[in-house]
Amino acid sequence: MAGRLAEKVVIITGAGRGIGRAAALLFASEGARLALVDINEESGEAAAEEVRLQGGEAIYVKTDLTHSAHVKKMADTVVEKYGRIDVLYNNAGINHFGKVTDADEAAWDRVMAVNAKSVFLTCKFVIPIMAKQKKGVIINTGSAASLVGLANLSAYTASKGAVLQLTRNMALDYAKDGIRVNAICPGVTATEMTEQVIYDDPDPKAARERFDRVIPRGSMAAPIEIANAALFLASDESSYITGAAIPVDGGYTAE
Ligand SMILES: NC(=O)c1ccc[n+]([C@@H]2O[C@H](COP(=O)([O-])OP(=O)(O)OC[C@H]3O[C@@H](n4cnc5c(N)ncnc54)[C@H](O)[C@@H]3O)[C@@H](O)[C@H]2O)c1
Repeated sequence: MAGRLAEKVVIITGAGRGIGRAAALLFASEGARLALVDINEESGEAAAEEVRLQGGEAIYVKTDLTHSAHVKKMADTVVEKYGRIDVLYNNAGINHFGKVTDADEAAWDRVMAVNAKSVFLTCKFVIPIMAKQKKGVIINTGSAASLVGLANLSAYTASKGAVLQLTRNMALDYAKDGIRVNAICPGVTATEMTEQVIYDDPDPKAARERFDRVIPRGSMAAPIEIANAALFLASDESSYITGAAIPVDGGYTAE
């Protein structure tokens, strides 16, 4: 299929729903051959099926990204199926509220594992494949929380800060191998993750208005608005961009 990602083999993690699913549909429409990774089998399979129904190419690879053996198997599966890996979009993540004094140790470990260690693991197994090709693109998912502190989100903010610094480091370490590594830093985005936060608030209507009020644009991002930035970074149009953190946040971190 022709398009800005024609014939490129792309792994998207956390592709079952939200931003990852929007990116899967967009990338497929631009000609990518997809490996959709998610811990949730039902939504992962459904995402792959949706891509195929719109005429795209996708397999679902069930993976818990916090386990080294799962991640290695995922990378092997993708190479077995497609023969190469051009783009790795590390999108999976979880949210967690609490100050340091509130957060229990297990929750801290889980957030760091899903949001930060997963990026280390996928890169550990995918970069050698890209290095052999002498070309590859990695897109990591930070957050506005990579760039500024967000009250009552200590573990999440720490994990997203780690993702940003790891991005910069890998950009330096693998530039000569032809591998570009960048981070997208989304602001509040209208996905199930955000809906859950609104739903859990004692006053959901006020919570939704609060979110919109603090964003200079005045409204949350649609998942496709984040996916569009990822498409640019995945494509050859961004060939000279590496080590960058791109806020996609309606102006939130410009203040
Ligand atoms: N939604 C927002 O407002 C927002 C803002 C800034 C950054 N982000 C980041 O963007 C990314 C996507 O967010 P979203 O809102 O689409 O999230 P989401 O919760 O809607 O989707 C996340 C997906 O990741 C999968 N996942 C979770 N743990 C996993 C694991 N261990 N192994 C494999 N898959 C796993 C889930 O099953 C889910 O399908 C996340 O990294 C998030 O931190 C989101």
